[in-house]
Amino acid sequence: MHIAMIGAGYVGLVSGACFSDFGHQVVCIDSNAEKVASLNNGEMPIHEPGLAELVARNVGQGRLSFASDLKSAVCEAEVVFIAVGTPSRRGDGHADLSYVYAAAREIATVLPERAVVVTKSTVPVGTGDEVERIIREENPTATVAVVSNPEFLREGAAIRDFKHPDRIVIGTDDPRARSAMAEVYRPLHLNASPILYTDRRTAELTKYAANSFLATKIAFINEIADLAEKVGANVQEVARGIGLDNRIGQKFLHAGPGFGGSCFPKDAMALIKTGQDNESPVRIVETVVAVNDQRKRAMARKVANAFGGNLRGKSIAVLGVTFKPDTDDMRDAPSIPLITALQDMGAEVRVFDPVGMEQAKKVFENVTFCENAYRCAKGCHALVIVTEWEQFRALDLKELSTIMACPVIVDLRNIYSPEEVRRNGFLYCGVGRPKSVAY
Ligand code: NAD
Ligand code: UDX
Repeated sequence: MHIAMIGAGYVGLVSGACFSDFGHQVVCIDSNAEKVASLNNGEMPIHEPGLAELVARNVGQGRLSFASDLKSAVCEAEVVFIAVGTPSRRGDGHADLSYVYAAAREIATVLPERAVVVTKSTVPVGTGDEVERIIREENPTATVAVVSNPEFLREGAAIRDFKHPDRIVIGTDDPRARSAMAEVYRPLHLNASPILYTDRRTAELTKYAANSFLATKIAFINEIADLAEKVGANVQEVARGIGLDNRIGQKFLHAGPGFGGSCFPKDAMALIKTGQDNESPVRIVETVVAVNDQRKRAMARKVANAFGGNLRGKSIAVLGVTFKPDTDDMRDAPSIPLITALQDMGAEVRVFDPVGMEQAKKVFENVTFCENAYRCAKGCHALVIVTEWEQFRALDLKELSTIMACPVIVDLRNIYSPEEVRRNGFLYCGVGRPKSVAY
């Protein structure tokens, strides 16, 4: 099949590359000409494990290409995916649909006869209706079908998630569009991934419900972690104790500094707005967002409490600033409010991240960027682990204890055994584990 993917970001690029790997003919179109030029030079605009090899293979075999000129690239496509960004709209938290609608307008007049248009971007209920209306307005004779096909991949595991999804959701009432989508996803269906066919509005809502539910699980276990600290219990064991119940499940029960990233915060907020607009408030999600927002700065108080509440004159080493490991994405990373709060409390902050440094330099002011974890820790009063990169899991604690000014480790991802760290002479603060310093 001939597929056009509009938007070559985290989702469009991974989806396009994976579709081409299944044998489809794919062109990824991005309005950012610099991004397209670097992709055509074999350079990846994002850090995603396995992506460079996947792209190179499919470009080499002639199934994947990149273009910035939408018109010539779309005119041969049987299926056109829209995978552009839907960030929070400044000021009100609604999803900003301007990129989606602009893309719909741009493709309308160049769509081939009977092409199927698919929104892969995460969009509020009713967006598919508006995309269809825009295309008809621009091109009244077009025989267009607009499908909702939300994407559930996670950054850092995006290729695996795309190729082996728990499910594929396809929202359309149009039989022609349904059979085109069945053809697009046939290789995945053969991989035994279930395909859920539904109507467009249900598909759109399913995506927001999924992200908000997962965000709720995290916010819930984070509050249990706080309570565990107060009552002398261990949140990791509580998580295991509840997670082994299949009705609850073990995933997304890791307590930490609060959820971040390019999806959960903005999608939870957009669902709240949809609820308010329709006089059907999603109060649980409203609380989840409020609790999560407060948590990130509260983590700075946890660091301060290791010093009797005062960080003036203290140097703090922060390990990991991306919102999760295996990505360079800094969007809504918990490290951002956390570092700002540390600075507000008077601390000098030093930072190291294995791949996020370039992006971090665009975000943080007045921090010292270091070459590795040890240079970062040197002379510091506390080491704070914010993102659980693999290389932080086996730090040389003896070495750290000799180079740090003060032996304090604040492990916001619970990747160390408290006993082991304390044995090496450190004050150790985890999240929700016995003797963790509360905030
Ligand atoms: P992104 O910002 O990384 O990429 C969007 C790309 O679209 C950019 O490269 C931009 O230049 C391009 N673009 C914008 N308007 C365009 C136009 N008119 N024509 C061509 N290109 C255009 O965004 P992303 O993280 O890939 O997210 C895309 C969508 O997928 C969002 O709705 C997001 O909520 C959803 N989503 C993201 C993830 C994730 O992990 N990032 C996962 C699932 C769903
Ligand atoms: C998420 C969804 O998982 C994915 O299905 C959707 O398509 C996009 O949004 P992503 O944002 O890439 O994916 O990462 P995810 O692994 O879900 O983590 C999101 C945030 O939650 C991170 O800040 C992470 O550290 C945090 N998290 C996750 C926890 O704090 N605890 C957990 O148990 C899991």
